Amino acid sequence: MFRTDLLKDKRILITGGGTGLGKGMAQRFLELGATVYICGRREEVLRATAAELFASGTIHAFPCDVRSLNAVDAMIDAIWSAGPLDVLVNNAAGNFIARSEELSPGAWNSVINIVLMGTLNCTMACGRRWLKSSHPGTVLSISATYAPVGSAYVVPSAVSKAGVEALTRSLAIEWGNRGIRMNAIAPGPIPTQGAFSRVLPRPELETLAVDRNPLHRFGTVEELANLAAFLVSDGSGYINGEVIRMDGGEFLQGAGEFSNLGRVLTDEDWESLRPRKPSAR
Ligand code: HXC
Ligand code: NAP
Repeated sequence: MFRTDLLKDKRILITGGGTGLGKGMAQRFLELGATVYICGRREEVLRATAAELFASGTIHAFPCDVRSLNAVDAMIDAIWSAGPLDVLVNNAAGNFIARSEELSPGAWNSVINIVLMGTLNCTMACGRRWLKSSHPGTVLSISATYAPVGSAYVVPSAVSKAGVEALTRSLAIEWGNRGIRMNAIAPGPIPTQGAFSRVLPRPELETLAVDRNPLHRFGTVEELANLAAFLVSDGSGYINGEVIRMDGGEFLQGAGEFSNLGRVLTDEDWESLRPRKPSAR
């Protein structure tokens, strides 16, 4: 789908790059010539991923909790000591389904601090360095389709992802004339152990999610990674401040008043709804 040198000479940090979508993006970016940095809280997971992807290119792993400004700054300093990053992918997240009224303050904090504050910490750490040295940079954040409208039962994530999208659109304008592009991807459900074990933890919930989708399937890690590769490449240089939805049309399916008719009405029903005779007009 892409030239194999599409991301040659790009230095890319993917937060949460040890698993799931982050790992998939790491693999694709390596195949396209990038030097990749991954971070996460679990050192053994990062090590295993780096060892697995090593054959595809240059990959470095940094244990780092993005909730900690000090830890983020130390990681970014360490990366910068070998040269500036060109791309930051804010992918790390925390989420689970729960009834909001039952959430403890610690539960709210845990998700908001990873998703919103983690994204803010990493974006500001890179952004300040890029601005100071007039080095062009690109930030790609992974949001979720419910960010603009909210969603029941994942409210800490919804408020955080909404903040991430506001940050994306705001800084796209504030920093755009100084060489920094800000975009986001809002994926629909893509099977990963981390996400599905927490937000679709039962088979019937997976079935419900597939049934809502016009394509009647989940997205794939490869589809997400390809879109991400395009958005962080120089070929997409005029895309700034956008949130690209990648959900097979699920979001629109939910919005259209009559979208569900296809599930209920049979061919016979449609036939019976047609006028019996051509109109006399
Ligand atoms: C209610 C919960 C809970 C749950 C944790 N808590 N899980 N409350 N229901 N299921 C509460 C705990 O009791 C605790 O409250 C507080 O949250 C912090 O929990 P810890 O386990 O100490 O937190 P921590 O180790 O920081 O882990 C963070 C986490 C965890 C978010 C809770 O799930 C995690 O590590 N997630 C990372 C990966 C992830 O979530 N991936 C999925 C992304 S999918 P107290 O009161 O004791 O402090 C996604 C989009 C999906 O974002 C969209 C699909 C379409
Ligand atoms: P995942 O595998 O659970 O990925 C989350 C990653 O974030 C993990 O590698 C985790 O590693 C890391 N992380 C969590 N807290 C962190 C912290 N405090 N500091 C640093 N790293 C942290 O789930 P995923 O499905 O790939 O999700 C990736 C992104 O896609 C998330 O932003 C998610 O919201 C978004 N998304 C996913 C889906 C989907 O269906 N899969 C749909 C919409 C949006 P550690 O635990 O080792 O820290």
